Amino acid sequence: MEFKKKILCIGAGYVGGPTMAVIALKCPEYRVDVVDISKERIDAWNSSSLPIYEPGLQEIVEDRRGKNLFFTTEVEKNIKNADIIFVSVNTPTKTFGEGAGMASDLQYWESTAHQIVKFAESDKIIVEKSTLPVRTAEAMERILKTHNGNIKFEVVSNPEFLAEGTAIKDLLEPDRVLIGAHKTQEGRKASKEIADIYKHWIPKRKIITTNLWSSELSKLIANAFLAQRISSINSISALCEKTDADISEIAHAIGSDSRIGEKFLQTSVGFGGSCFKKDILNLVYIAKSYGLYEVADYWESVVKMNEYQKSRFVRKIIKEMFNTVAGKKITLFGFSFKADTGDTRESPAIDITKALLNENAKVTIHDPKALKNAKLDLKDFDKDIIYDTDPYKAAEDANAIVITTEWSQFKELDYSIIFDSMKKPAFIFDGRNILDHNKLFDMGFNVYPTGKKQLTHFS
Ligand SMILES: NC(=O)c1ccc[n+]([C@@H]2O[C@H](COP(=O)([O-])OP(=O)(O)OC[C@H]3O[C@@H](n4cnc5c(N)ncnc54)[C@H](O)[C@@H]3O)[C@@H](O)[C@H]2O)c1
Repeated sequence: MEFKKKILCIGAGYVGGPTMAVIALKCPEYRVDVVDISKERIDAWNSSSLPIYEPGLQEIVEDRRGKNLFFTTEVEKNIKNADIIFVSVNTPTKTFGEGAGMASDLQYWESTAHQIVKFAESDKIIVEKSTLPVRTAEAMERILKTHNGNIKFEVVSNPEFLAEGTAIKDLLEPDRVLIGAHKTQEGRKASKEIADIYKHWIPKRKIITTNLWSSELSKLIANAFLAQRISSINSISALCEKTDADISEIAHAIGSDSRIGEKFLQTSVGFGGSCFKKDILNLVYIAKSYGLYEVADYWESVVKMNEYQKSRFVRKIIKEMFNTVAGKKITLFGFSFKADTGDTRESPAIDITKALLNENAKVTIHDPKALKNAKLDLKDFDKDIIYDTDPYKAAEDANAIVITTEWSQFKELDYSIIFDSMKKPAFIFDGRNILDHNKLFDMGFNVYPTGKKQLTHFS
């Protein structure tokens, strides 16, 4: 079949894979190739066991794979053939040298730019899908200009706003699509070409076009604002626990104000995921590099509050379990950073587990989708941790259950069976406030919600 347009995506990760699967689904006349340097990842995309879990993803991939959606490691051939190249490689926090622990590590990004220069033989639109520091397109353009042929590259920013766990829904029905381009004739033409892809299924009014720098910066700011909401409500959860005010009642009361809105007001053990922390730290770094120290401090406090919430949660577990967890079995329900994903990057459960092991607790971990990643994250502690796919077995003989992820499965468990199998007194620390605390208390549990009054049988 002759395809109308050839799209290439470099980077077959949490963003590249699902985004390209949805484009292939909605644009059957386009050929979509997804390449990655990791053969293991590409093999998984071509198998029945995809490298990432997202509700609805498997069905779309199985529908389009081999028809107009292809996963491959053939970078050279695909760069040559592509009309549009989405770059969706990882942009982690730098761990070395200048800006270590704050700035974005752009080495993966830069190496794709050099690959494009090396293999391109025709004009192309290069789309920044990765989250990048503002003005990265300028650096990309400088590298692309080193091409010695007569080829034109137009760089466009099209950041991705999907959330893991709801990636397919977010891609099918996004609140908006953002496209940033130069305000030149070529820039506008490239912006329209990218908009034409999305117009296959997204109403025109939801497609926002801006200049390149606004688009690049908007993505960092969107994540900073979302994380700020979580840190704000988490800071108040600490105050609630001191005053017997109830964080859920407060969230409802303030969220009913249409200026504030009800979303992202659930308290938790802290935010995780690959993006929030790295993007805020990157924002902090950028602000500092422009000499805007007050701006940098303001945003850095969002990350500091998140660290506080995680350590506060662990300190509460230790204090309430009579100031020691040494030798006690503590079972974590949940390890992914949020429900409906197997992704554990920056999951608060990692820090919580390490802190509990540091106190000589015996940790067991149960998670419906994230045990494989948990084992990788905690490989240095292999001998000290038990992983169990069965929540009832995981809880047997435990002194405490700790809810670290808001999987809906955890609400459906029979906690009376769990209570009977546990050591007494039985503790439950609900870091996500997903359980029925009064019911658990009536069963005999000592219950410690987050940002709410604790329910204990101790006099
Ligand atoms: N994960 C999310 O929820 C999310 C949401 C929005 C935006 N983002 C941003 O999107 C970008 C990608 O994130 P992700 O979560 O998909 O990362 P990821 O680590 O899951 O995937 C990136 C992939 O790029 C591949 N890669 C790196 N260099 C390459 C190269 N030169 N050639 C080919 N492949 C290469 C890696 O092997 C990896 O498989 C990041 O900038 C991130 O900040 C992520």
